[in-house]
Amino acid sequence: MAVKNDSSTLKVLFVTTELAPFSKVGGLGDVAGSLPKALRQAGVDVRVVTPAWPGVIERAEAAKLKMTTSKSKVYAAYDWRIHSANVIKTEVDKVPTYFLKADDYAGDMYPSQLNFWTASPFAVFCMQALELKNAIDWEPDIYHCHDWTSAFLPCALAWHRYYRQTGQKSIMTLHNVAYQGVFEPYPFLDASGLEPWSFNSSTMEFYGQINLLKGGIVSATAVSTVSPTYANEIQTYESTRELSGILYQQRSKLRGIINGLDVKFWDPAGDKSIPANFSTKDLKGKSVCKKELLRRAGFDDSDDSPVIVCVSRLVEQKGFDMVFNAAGQIAETGAKLLILGSGNDWIENGIIQAQNDYPNNVKLFKGYDEPLSHLLYAGGDIFLMPSVFEPCGLSQMISMRYGTVPVVREVGGLRDTVFDVDRPEGGNGFTFLTCDVDGMMWALRRSIERYRDKQAWTKIMLEGMREDFTWDRSAGLYKEMYEDLMQ
Ligand code: ADP
Ligand code: GLC
Repeated sequence: MAVKNDSSTLKVLFVTTELAPFSKVGGLGDVAGSLPKALRQAGVDVRVVTPAWPGVIERAEAAKLKMTTSKSKVYAAYDWRIHSANVIKTEVDKVPTYFLKADDYAGDMYPSQLNFWTASPFAVFCMQALELKNAIDWEPDIYHCHDWTSAFLPCALAWHRYYRQTGQKSIMTLHNVAYQGVFEPYPFLDASGLEPWSFNSSTMEFYGQINLLKGGIVSATAVSTVSPTYANEIQTYESTRELSGILYQQRSKLRGIINGLDVKFWDPAGDKSIPANFSTKDLKGKSVCKKELLRRAGFDDSDDSPVIVCVSRLVEQKGFDMVFNAAGQIAETGAKLLILGSGNDWIENGIIQAQNDYPNNVKLFKGYDEPLSHLLYAGGDIFLMPSVFEPCGLSQMISMRYGTVPVVREVGGLRDTVFDVDRPEGGNGFTFLTCDVDGMMWALRRSIERYRDKQAWTKIMLEGMREDFTWDRSAGLYKEMYEDLMQ
């Protein structure tokens, strides 16, 4: 459906530091790359602004996008000088998209250490997003921001010397409250143009530090997060520690909306990066994918033991210490464990140790590899995701699309999307609650046993493949939130 351009059409600017397929670290990139398309179909005039990190323009060129550089630049006053950026305009599946190209975005996407210098690009980006209306002939009704990296925007609308006069509306979507953008307040407060009185415990001050996410939550007109269960969890001390009080206090403006998937992109029937396609009507291609995956891992491709796969950032959140500590027990079952990911050294080393101890069962593909991830989703039998916490999680949904049965911890969005097959009403996967090896192995063993019953297994696979992971319903809920804000 084309977006009508009458005065009643809602205009929303998505302000995001990740945008798949041009820049992506995790699920935020996927969401920013797919939700706007669904919102446009729902009749919202949504557009996207994102930094042109290194490689972004090259990837857009490779995708053969038509790009034009706007005559006007965007400017932000920050750290006693003017930061300018070129606005490179394109359309991605009919979504008008603006890449901001400037020296501020010439370094790594996300800094490993946050301080005044490394936080600066994110503040500059937010101010340039607020200035975008002066460079293009379009002004949003609502700025929709995502995570701490664009949380400075609502802060600026509330407390910046210049922008706080404008009275514009903003939404803060929390994809992961574990990353908050915390650093020393000086000289940021002066350099960013925030009013001196804006730094206090009911705004963005957090134990003497700046906390951009806290500022964004307090100052945004509305706040959402990416699953109903996570929306409840983050109001508890167990989940978000010192930030839980603020989230509880702000709960009347908080809602939980589950993520969807780009089901055209994640489609086993049309996916060009897997060796054979398959669908609910014909599953044969899946065993071709399994054989190819076993070969890539250096294992015997005629082996019919269950293949457990993981595709993940290897960070504490994802519970991989449970996985490498359970490697011996997994090997005893005869299953193979194939992990694609990279992240913290101690987790990578734990998996490498497990691989050395059980070379016939464990394989780590270290790194970030988009095409290989498709092969793991397609060629696996079981998808293991034992997260300590999980705001939503997309991987478990992708795996279900590809007939790979998820085994997950019942937490956050995993709890809202994966339902244990052993419930009286049945389900689409296997779940466990206690966050330890015993809990995980209890669910994993049940899945391995069930795998041996081919008929029962196929039924579970099909259940997952038939789930509706489109954005349709959630895009409607976002639209409702926008409409509520405009009343
Ligand atoms: P998170 O955003 O916390 O990382 P999600 O499950 O929401 O978790 O999204 C992860 C996304 O990143 C999925 O699209 C997944 O396929 C992708 N991904 C994670 N690690 C890798 C990797 N090593 N190689 C390729 N894709 C990856
Ligand atoms: C975050 C979360 C993940 C969620 C993704 C997209 O990275 O860790 O659970 O799916 O954002 O919202």
